[in-house]
Amino acid sequence: MKLLNITAKIHVYTIDECNESKKKLIERAKLATHMAYAPYSGFCVGAAVLLENGEIISGNNQENAAYPSGLCAERVTVFNANSQFSQTGIEAIAIAAFHDGDYTNEPCYPCGSCRQTLLEVENRFGKSLKVIMYGESAIYEVDSIKDLLPLSFGKESLKE
Ligand code: THU
Repeated sequence: MKLLNITAKIHVYTIDECNESKKKLIERAKLATHMAYAPYSGFCVGAAVLLENGEIISGNNQENAAYPSGLCAERVTVFNANSQFSQTGIEAIAIAAFHDGDYTNEPCYPCGSCRQTLLEVENRFGKSLKVIMYGESAIYEVDSIKDLLPLSFGKESLKE
């Protein structure tokens, strides 16, 4: 039997180390948390995507009394961006969360379903998607969603 060891490269930094464009994207994700509709969990997530044309689109989680009918911030944001700019790739997504009167200390990580959606974006446009996970104490960033979703199921899997 063999053992496969999977590693991921994660950049760890603080807001003071960001250039202006990254700061702006993170700010938009943080701002979007305040327009979330999260009466059931009280966990307000915001996301902002930077398109190849420089446009920034933001969104947030939208909950529902019938819980599974709600949707996460990342998917609301990406679907909105792709529906308005169907031919424009996405360079980066920033994610932030506001809970109990503060932004979370820990970086906000995308859930499994959102990771799968972000993988589709990366494959669709043939371009690595940076994922920036904001936390008050640290920001985590990966160069590609594949770093957060190893052994993923994508369009190539359907051919094999
Ligand atoms: N949530 C997101 O918006 N993004 C994630 O990646 C994780 C979870 C939302 C869903 C739900 O409205 C709330 O956070 C609590 O799970």
